[in-house]
Amino acid sequence: MQNILVTGGAGFIGCNFVRYMLDKYPDYTIVVYDKLTYAGRLENLQDVQAQHGSRLRFVQGDICDAAAVDDAIGAHDIDAIVNFAAETHVDRSIMSPDAFIQTDVYGTYVLLEAARKAGNLRYHQISTDEVYGHIHGDHRSLESDSMAPRSPYAASKASGDHMVNAYYITYGLPVTISRGANNIGPFQYPEKVVPLFVTNALNNMALPVYGDGKQMRDYQYVIDHCSGIDVVLHEGVMGESYNIGTGKEMTNLEMVEILLDALGKPRSLIQHVEDRQGHDRRYCMNVNKLMALGWEPEYTHEEAIRATVRWYVDNQWWWEPIRNGEFKEYYQRLYGNRKVIG
Ligand code: NAD
Ligand code: DAU
Repeated sequence: MQNILVTGGAGFIGCNFVRYMLDKYPDYTIVVYDKLTYAGRLENLQDVQAQHGSRLRFVQGDICDAAAVDDAIGAHDIDAIVNFAAETHVDRSIMSPDAFIQTDVYGTYVLLEAARKAGNLRYHQISTDEVYGHIHGDHRSLESDSMAPRSPYAASKASGDHMVNAYYITYGLPVTISRGANNIGPFQYPEKVVPLFVTNALNNMALPVYGDGKQMRDYQYVIDHCSGIDVVLHEGVMGESYNIGTGKEMTNLEMVEILLDALGKPRSLIQHVEDRQGHDRRYCMNVNKLMALGWEPEYTHEEAIRATVRWYVDNQWWWEPIRNGEFKEYYQRLYGNRKVIG
């Protein structure tokens, strides 16, 4: 494996993965293939480009465009595809599911088909713990658990996973899937809860906590996710899925308290608002299968939140223009008329 097509590489996790891989593997070349939706930004890659020059190439394109995908694979002699490209925000999927079906379902099919036609290229699918649905009691999702997605986003990602498995079984395509928990860290679009709350707090705006705030998530640092993907890409067994997370969970309110303390901001900024429709109460995964391959996370939840807060405090140049762009209209639409409940 030397020439990797990283779809969605201008987004949050993708750009961190590109940086991680080019630093670690001096003989690899990466071609980022990205449509540049509202979430994809070239400035996410500008430091990597400056550091690695021609080892990083960029193609603007849609993963739903089969001819453009084939061209990129042929033109750059691609031997592996890692698919990060997706519509990723649950609240947007509730407001308008269409783009999620296009990109996360149909786009995944287009990439699989392109990998097959190019001679069965190595294919890795980036998936999510949301495919398991919300988890009851103290169970931790295992890779062998059935998928039970509940939001349009989660259902579109689960459909993608089914298609990846079908290409392994039917055509023998060399595939793996990784299912990540909630990522936080540099370059995350401020619609997601941690960067939203940090940037709101820095502007002394209220933090809109959905419902009682006792939903549970596994907030992992993005670099731990990237190192896990690297292990699956190189050591994973074909046709298998691997969970990536810390294996522990915390409530949203616990996350908010660490975040506010790190910023030195008062708890009075917390505002409970009407809950998300169909809100999954708890995600938590068992990550032993990946740990058996020698991987382990380096950041605790608290360290991950503090590191993320520091990055946003230091990188206002990155998020301020975003908050003044498309984001403004989105924020008004989602939060403008939302009922405050406490
Ligand atoms: P993101 O929204 O920050 O970035 C998505 C990227 O995909 C953007 O660069 C966007 O321009 C690109 N893209 C979207 N539609 C495209 C299309 N049709 N063709 C080409 N490019 C397109 O997302 P992220 O948070 O970095 O998530 C990356 C992947 O990881 C997704 O597959 C997501 O489902 C998965 N994931 C995310 C998390 C998380 O916490 N953020 C956790 C687990 C898994
Ligand atoms: O679990 C992995 C998933 O994590 C990824 O697959 C998704 O792409 C990613 O968006 C994320 O989904 P979540 O819905 O868990 O993330 P989000 O940041 O939107 O919300 C995290 C939690 O915070 C969730 O319980 C909802 C809550 N929340 C979110 C927002 C945006 C609030 O309380 N208030 C908010 O304003």
